[in-house]
Amino acid sequence: SAMAAFVAELPKVELHVHLVGSASPATVARLARRHPGSGVPTDLTELREFFTFRDFDHFLTVYWAVQSLITTSADIHDLVVGLAADLSAQRCRYAEVTVTPYNHVLDGLSGDALLEGLASGRNAAATEHGVDLAWCFDIPGEKGTTAGRETLIFALRNRPDGLVSFGLGGPEIGVGRALFEPFFTAAREAGLHSVPHAGETSGPATVWSAIHDLGAERIGHGTSSAADPALLAYLAEHRIPLEVCPTSNVRTRQVESVAAHPVRRLLDHGVLVTLNTDDPPMFGATLNGEYLTVAECLGLTRTELVALAGNAVRASFLQDTRKEALL
Ligand code: ADE
Ligand code: ZN
Repeated sequence: SAMAAFVAELPKVELHVHLVGSASPATVARLARRHPGSGVPTDLTELREFFTFRDFDHFLTVYWAVQSLITTSADIHDLVVGLAADLSAQRCRYAEVTVTPYNHVLDGLSGDALLEGLASGRNAAATEHGVDLAWCFDIPGEKGTTAGRETLIFALRNRPDGLVSFGLGGPEIGVGRALFEPFFTAAREAGLHSVPHAGETSGPATVWSAIHDLGAERIGHGTSSAADPALLAYLAEHRIPLEVCPTSNVRTRQVESVAAHPVRRLLDHGVLVTLNTDDPPMFGATLNGEYLTVAECLGLTRTELVALAGNAVRASFLQDTRKEALL
């Protein structure tokens, strides 16, 4: 369609994509063959079936199975370069990528191997694909304060090139954001930006907690903010952007359909909305696809899509001069 062509041409920035969740089925199949007995299918047809989620918890089970396959710096390098190739095909030349060091180390990848794979992958992304990558190191919330402390120590001790932010992912129900306040305070004092997931699988109170307890400067998802007018006003007034991931929300059954997604309501309240993919192959999502689906299902115009792409540049942690060059 003409809209699809327009979206494909539009320069875009990605702010919410998990490195593990960015693995294409071909990459996952290769890793699964390399590590027999993992329980992850090695056959592409079976993998597509495996990637069909019943709900959010099932999604996490699949995500963790893929995660467990990643055990060498070469695995990390391949994931990073594969993601960069996919981003470049979406006309995306800058992305902030979420990495969960604590999970990798639990799966037997040393911290040094992780850093080596990230650094070499990031160099190859720039030189081979013209894609600049920045990192968000995030806490797997379900693993509690030990994971919080270890993630903080790992981030501050190593400070790899490209590290810009500190995050919190995993389930929200039963994993209060406030539990992680000391780690976010320390990360922010050290100059990292605060970008927790909140309001993906639980209500607006979690977003408020992300703001008040974790000093969130941007919110991962934040979808449920739409149910709280005072929160919408706050997000708009304080220009706290949301990393909205429409297809992800449909696939994990947080919203019934893209047509039922509150993107339009968020925009109408002046919230700085950005569009993102989260775990693209796992959700059958692409960055172009996210822009196209909100245009088709919610009637967003070309002008509105251009504004959304601009929002992502403004909401990024790029230097102001780099932002201006992209706007
Ligand atoms: N880890 C990977 N994807 C995630 C998501 N969408 N929400 C929370 N944790 C995640
Ligand atoms: Zn996410």
